[in-house]
Amino acid sequence: MSKISAAITAVGAYVPEFVLTNQILETMVDTNDEWITTRTGIKERRILKKEGAGTSYLAIKAAQNLIDKKGLDPKDIELVIVATATPDMKAASTASYTASEIGAINAFAFDMDAACSSFLYGMSVAASYIESGRYKNILLIGADKMSSIVNYKDRATCIIFGDGAGAVLFEPTTENLGLKDEYLRSDGTGRDFLQATYGGSSNALTPEVLEKGGHYAFQEGRTVFKNAVFNMADAAVKILERNNLDKDSVDWLAAHQANKRIIDATAQRIDLADEKVMINIHKYGNTTSATLPLLIADYESQLKKGDNIIFAAFGGGFNWGAIYLKWAYNYKN
Ligand code: UT7
Repeated sequence: MSKISAAITAVGAYVPEFVLTNQILETMVDTNDEWITTRTGIKERRILKKEGAGTSYLAIKAAQNLIDKKGLDPKDIELVIVATATPDMKAASTASYTASEIGAINAFAFDMDAACSSFLYGMSVAASYIESGRYKNILLIGADKMSSIVNYKDRATCIIFGDGAGAVLFEPTTENLGLKDEYLRSDGTGRDFLQATYGGSSNALTPEVLEKGGHYAFQEGRTVFKNAVFNMADAAVKILERNNLDKDSVDWLAAHQANKRIIDATAQRIDLADEKVMINIHKYGNTTSATLPLLIADYESQLKKGDNIIFAAFGGGFNWGAIYLKWAYNYKN
């Protein structure tokens, strides 16, 4: 019997309407468009302003976009995974609610959190279920409402993050396509440098903590930056070496969009031409779990069946890695 691989067979995306530009941020914190553009590559990001709407709102919209594009019957979906660092609430998963709202009534559902690597790790989990032969239709959604944990008085974080969601469908294939290899790593000593400290089980959210803004995400940017550059590039190199790939045989790099300089450094380490590097950080900023599927959605019309794509991510935890995937279809409008 031929080996079963896990292929991405459809993509959907959603970003909220409100555009938070660098110019607007100039009026909120001591920053300027030139600093943000040269240090991060970001020009604007999207913010979900709708009252009472959380990450599930974004996830549902992205999933519905995929369902409409593919003409998928949501009753055929067997598993819904929502990769997110900003679930709707502490208990009761965002994925279960999302699955019900999109009509995936035959699915089970759960959330996954590995900060900015949530979607990358989610690809590994979804692919493993498919490869095992146990399930045939898995919806993986990367969604984050980062504006819910960003302090808009902290210029070191508020200029980076944005809200958004992307979704992919994984299905089995016996062709030489789909997820080929992965290199995933974690280092928990990194959690001191990027975290939302309060509101979990070790540090309660008290009125005093709230008063001081302790519920917001904090990062020591420089340390995170250095680790991201080293580890994301290292993971990309390792995955290329292990699969006998080089700058000519790789068609695309889909790297987590946290900082244009980190993406450039990764591309340079594997000597990849600029036109093979997917970029949309200027439009959306760092949407955490949504960066990779939003890239795929933006570049879907340019992808060809058989294209070799390297996914790479780095984020809080620290968690990072790279995945090699062969694209499975040609775009039809
Ligand atoms: O998603 C995964 C996790 N996150 C990341 O991967 C983010 C990684 N880190 C970064 O992208 C960068 O470290 C930042 C964009 C956050 C910061 O850029 P940087 O080049 O590392 O700046 P820095 O923190 O070293 O600060 C340089 C200077 C400082 O001033 P002094 O001390 O040199 O006088 C900062 O106070 O820039 C100042 N600064 C700003 N100035 C204008 C920091 N933020 C801003 C700002 N506008 N928004």
